[in-house]
Amino acid sequence: MPVDLGLPAVPNATRRPDTPELVDRFGRVATDLRVSLTDRCNLRCTYCMPAEGLDWLPGGDLLSDAELTRLIRIAVTALGVTDIRFTGGEPTLRRGLEGIIEATAALDPRPRISMTTNAIGLARRARSLRAAGLDRVNVSLDTLDPARFTELTRRDRFADVLAGLAAAREAGLEPVKVNTVLMRGVNDDEAVPLLRFCLAHGYRLRFIEQMPLDPQHGWDRGEMVTAEEILARLSAEYDLTPQARGAAPAERWLVDGGPGDVGVIASVTRPFCAACDRTRLTADGALRSCLFATGETDLRAPLRGGASDEELAGVWRGAMWAKAAGHGIDGGGFTQPDRPMSSIGG
Ligand code: 5AD
Ligand code: SF4
Repeated sequence: MPVDLGLPAVPNATRRPDTPELVDRFGRVATDLRVSLTDRCNLRCTYCMPAEGLDWLPGGDLLSDAELTRLIRIAVTALGVTDIRFTGGEPTLRRGLEGIIEATAALDPRPRISMTTNAIGLARRARSLRAAGLDRVNVSLDTLDPARFTELTRRDRFADVLAGLAAAREAGLEPVKVNTVLMRGVNDDEAVPLLRFCLAHGYRLRFIEQMPLDPQHGWDRGEMVTAEEILARLSAEYDLTPQARGAAPAERWLVDGGPGDVGVIASVTRPFCAACDRTRLTADGALRSCLFATGETDLRAPLRGGASDEELAGVWRGAMWAKAAGHGIDGGGFTQPDRPMSSIGG
């Protein structure tokens, strides 16, 4: 039996059909836009950034709030995008965040709006973000041990994350999802405690297999904690009932008959490239058709050069039409992209 790499079959078209949507040669349609608002972060997670931080994008390269909201408007009104996810770096470090969300929520049709955040600062801002139109959040949390948190993120902010999570739930930014990356010898003993914690608080936990996106290029396939291993650990403690996967990257299981559930995003061992519906915009105005794309398309130059909405939409359509079949991490010839995760957005 051929191995299912989660890749789409042969390209089914050689010429782009004349449709407004972000279609590609494999019949996929991108409707989910990830917008990175900054490459900076107030944590220094060891798998994401060196202690001293990275060479941040120069201020002049960053899209202004007005430029960003114009591109989001084009995506939603001309390209069929229905979901906007704000990411970073840490998106709450972007000063104009509430205004950007407000402008996004005012679009017709109104997209669903979510944000991936480390939750620091949510205690203070969850309500204003909700009022601006944010629908829900995904919070990154890899450990429940305060000392380990400080080691892993190089900042003593564990209490702020817990407070941020609670504030998100109270403000109605629901469902509050928690993203966890398990690493061997670091936090791989926390699968069960993290699930117990999330079930008790009504957060929806998703484990993400670690992907080769670290700036240190230290990722090692053999060291990675796989979905299979995570499930084995959880099954020792809980009764897991598989749920239909649908188009979402997370495979889900009901825990002890529900209503609580747990998800695993097996980007490496069970890639879902064939069902990918994502398009990405970096904080400096580059379009990426995939997290792992080694090339990108500059939208900033035409944007600042006076291109019309329709011209910008055309550039976007062309970039997505050229989207590759998949990342092929588990196959031969995989090349890690130059941009680290913190500058692409999760
Ligand atoms: N592999 C998988 N997930 C990662 N994240 C950051 N780097 C990686 C990686 N190399 C996660 C963060 C956050 C989300 C944006 O992506 O923990 O939850
Ligand atoms: Fe910041 Fe997220 Fe990277 Fe951690 S993983 S340093 S929270 S951008």
